[in-house]
Formats: sequence, C-alpha cells, structure tokens
Amino acid sequence: MQIPPYLVNEHYGDRYFDVVNAIEEARHIFFQGSALADILSDPRRGPKEFRIGETGFGAGRVLIALLDYLDRSGVRDLAVTYNSVELHPVSAERMGSILGGFKQGFGPLIDVLVSAYGRLDIATPGWRRIQLTRPFGALNLNLWVGEALEMVRALTAPCDAWFLDGHGPKTNPDIWREELLLAIGDKTVAGGTCATYTVAAVVRHGLSAAGFSVSQRPGFGGKKAVLGGIKR
Ligand SMILES: C[S@@+](CC[C@H](N)C(=O)[O-])C[C@H]1O[C@@H](n2cnc3c(N)ncnc32)[C@H](O)[C@@H]1O
Repeated sequence: MQIPPYLVNEHYGDRYFDVVNAIEEARHIFFQGSALADILSDPRRGPKEFRIGETGFGAGRVLIALLDYLDRSGVRDLAVTYNSVELHPVSAERMGSILGGFKQGFGPLIDVLVSAYGRLDIATPGWRRIQLTRPFGALNLNLWVGEALEMVRALTAPCDAWFLDGHGPKTNPDIWREELLLAIGDKTVAGGTCATYTVAAVVRHGLSAAGFSVSQRPGFGGKKAVLGGIKR
C-alpha cells in the first residue's frame, strides 16, 4: 500500500501509527495493556477520576480511540485527565488528513477534536487545554507543547496509566532515555500501569528500572508481542 506523505512524521521518518487498524491497535496495546476495563469497573476505586499520561500526541489517534471506548463503556460521571506531549505539533489541517482514514466510524469525534485543537496555540511551548463533555463524563486534555521530560516534570499529580507511543527506540531513542522513564515512574501511582508496542530490551530494562514490573502480551496486526507494566 502507498503511504500518503502526511502519515509519515518527517522528523523521524516513521508513520504516526498503523494505517490499517489504528483504532483497534490502540485498544489492544494501550487500553487492554493497561487493564482499563478492570480499573474502571473496580468498585473499590474511590472518586471517579482517572489520569492518563501519553508520550507522543501526534494526531490524537489514541485519544480518539479512548473517547470512543469510554463513550461506549457504559461508565458515567468519570473525569479523565489526559496529559500528553508533542515536540513537533502538526497543524489542525494535517491532523484532519491523518485521522481522515477512519472518518467513517469516528467522524463526529474527529470533527470535535480537530476543531478544538485548531483553536490552540501550538507554536508556543507549554500547556494547552481542551475540555470536552462526553457521555462518560468529562475529558480534560492537557497537551504540553515541547519535550516529553519537561511535560512529565510539570505534572502536579501522578498518572494511573501511561500510554508510551513515541516511535520505536531505534527511530527515536530520546523518548526511551533513562532519565525520562525514571521521571515517568515517579509520576505513576502505585499499582498504576504503562503500555507500549515495543518489547525492545532497552525499553523493558528502562521501565523495570523505573519501578514497573513488565511483561509481554500477544501482539497485534503482525506484531508478535507488546509490553505492559504495573508500578510496583
Ligand atoms: C508514534 S507518534 C504518536 C502517535 C499518536 N499517539 C497518535 O495516536 O496519533 C510519536 C509522536 O511523538 C512525538 N515525539 C517524539 N519525540 C518526542 C519528545 N522527545 N517529546 C515530545 N514528543 C515527542 C513525535 O513528534 C510524534 O508525533
């Protein structure tokens, strides 16, 4: 299949995501990988708040998949804080093109996100915020324009789950560097989770050193295995 140029992040020479099954891929790797369904249905959970961290906002595909997943989950009155970061923000127009491949099933969600994103100042470093009211409750997107370590350090509360989606370690070793993974570990609640598509040794060891017990799970779409972790 010919890959349209807008799907390739020119800074890394890598695609933003799997072009064919991007939404299912996000569900498998990140939501199942962080046991989201179990966490959200756990009656011992106190206030209905859930904090997620993501490295690599890209075109917001994981966020679209998450909103769709939560909208259909039957969960109500949930406040989700979604802390993400992007060093090379795409324009709203390009975001629309990148997400255009799944406009059919997710058109209204994509329109809402692209339109809100289009009003953000993505040229100036620092936090940008989007608030959405959804059937499941509230989504508070905190998007840090800048480098991932700065974002993690700027978090004032630890996350319940981390979605690590910043290109693979060969393509982008920076996003897997020890200092950053340690900071992510520090900003994770005990029993919190992390999930990613790469099972590379440097990532397994880095996450382990950051306090996560990591394990491999079956992969998705031709990938043999993916990685999940629980904060010890
Ligand atoms: C695989 S893409 C993310 C895809 C995105 N989660 C989505 O679903 O659309 C990885 C993203 O991480 C960003 N990135 C890479 N290194 C970064 C860093 N050090 N700090 C912040 N963002 C970074 C890239 O520019 C790219 O947009």
